[in-house]
Amino acid sequence: MSKPINVGLLGAGVVGSGVIKTFQQKAADIERQVGAKVIVTHALVRNKSKNRGFSCSDDFFVDSASEIINNPNVDIVVELMGGEEPAYEYIKGSLKSKKHVVTANKEVMAKHCQEVFSLAKSNKVRIMFEGSVAGGTPIISPLVRDLLANDIHSIRAIINGTTNYMLTKMAKEHADYLTVLREAQSLGYAESDPTNDVEGIDAAYKLAILSTLGFRCEVKDTDVFREGITKLSASDFVYAEELGFNIKLLAMANLINNRIQARVHPVLIAESDMLAKVDGVLNAVEVDTDLVNKVLFHGPGAGSLPTSSAVVADIVNISRSLVAESPIPDPITLVNSYDISSINELTCQYYIRLNAKDEPGVLAQVSSILGDNGISISSFIQKDSETSSGNAELVIMTHTSTEQSVQDALCNIDRLPVVNEISITIRVAD
Ligand SMILES: NC(=O)c1ccc[n+]([C@@H]2O[C@H](COP(=O)([O-])OP(=O)(O)OC[C@H]3O[C@@H](n4cnc5c(N)ncnc54)[C@H](OP(=O)(O)O)[C@@H]3O)[C@@H](O)[C@H]2O)c1
Repeated sequence: MSKPINVGLLGAGVVGSGVIKTFQQKAADIERQVGAKVIVTHALVRNKSKNRGFSCSDDFFVDSASEIINNPNVDIVVELMGGEEPAYEYIKGSLKSKKHVVTANKEVMAKHCQEVFSLAKSNKVRIMFEGSVAGGTPIISPLVRDLLANDIHSIRAIINGTTNYMLTKMAKEHADYLTVLREAQSLGYAESDPTNDVEGIDAAYKLAILSTLGFRCEVKDTDVFREGITKLSASDFVYAEELGFNIKLLAMANLINNRIQARVHPVLIAESDMLAKVDGVLNAVEVDTDLVNKVLFHGPGAGSLPTSSAVVADIVNISRSLVAESPIPDPITLVNSYDISSINELTCQYYIRLNAKDEPGVLAQVSSILGDNGISISSFIQKDSETSSGNAELVIMTHTSTEQSVQDALCNIDRLPVVNEISITIRVAD
């Protein structure tokens, strides 16, 4: 049996505690798989006296990262603090100290993967981050290893459980946005400040990582076009259903003519589409490739034990190569350099809901502007006015159009005296 492998955790919160418990419960199994004991020796936390639901020795918790990063006995540093800083500094410091690193930090990986990969390479250590996207559902390893022989055409994903829970509630109960947000907060699915989830920031981090790995080209979070779910109302779900669609926050990336388009926004998605059926806090990632065509990864996207499954697997993977004394494989090589295409180049169908005066000729004026911009109407729904207001709601589905022409048309429609407001425009998923 080889000498024990020592693991230091930076963070022992939701995921870190799950990792510690998993190691405590499965120590014998892991030892058999690795051929050595794998021991979590220390964890950095802010509050050492917090009860974390596992037992440990008195000196287990440390209050300085350097006690782990610069500890010559630590082989693998596991960063589970979250946020960009100080996590990024600690990851860099660990790699420079020639420690292998496991992280579940989507923000650091979305913003700095190129630097992190090259630091790992130059220090001849490994960086693994399966937990950073889709929690317990494997997707990083399939992209990096199992689909290696494929050219990836596109990725479509539901990778934010909080918003998927909210949108599922809105679809099934026709509840409004604020009601489902409050419910998600009371269940602990949404933070008290839900911005990262509802504005698509969290999904954009994860899409940047998936795109980088899938297209072998660095895609940063800032390359991802992003729109959140805050403008959706209960009525959009009613109309979508009438039209045969569901509404989801989709993260999508594709490679066309050597240009990557990456975007996160709500979409109308045909009810028959597999992704339309992914409900609640679950995640799903669909990858479309030249060899396997479409493959779908579906499962829990967060949670203490599901995410610890991904993190522990990364630790075990590194431990096995340490025991085997196998050469350290290069981190993913980003061999491609593609341009990022603007959202204005997108072509798709559009759903437009607007509130207008309930008088003759409104649809004619709106469709005339759409026509002037080369946009034709595929169908529309008009709801009777509330007699008191004298206004009516109009829902228009366009045929496939370009984003630029739709935005130009919307500017002019907004100026029509008969139009009170353009309530929302939602793109339709391919
Ligand atoms: N939660 C999930 O389901 C999930 C799923 C997938 C990926 N992830 C990712 O996993 C990582 C960890 O998430 P989490 O939910 O476990 O977070 P968390 O519950 O907030 O835990 C963070 C841990 O880091 C410690 N910490 C934070 N800042 C620190 C600092 N400056 N100095 C010392 N210790 C510090 C905290 O100490 P205290 O406990 O003393 O406050 C806590 O133990 C994040 O990158 C997250 O995005 C989470």
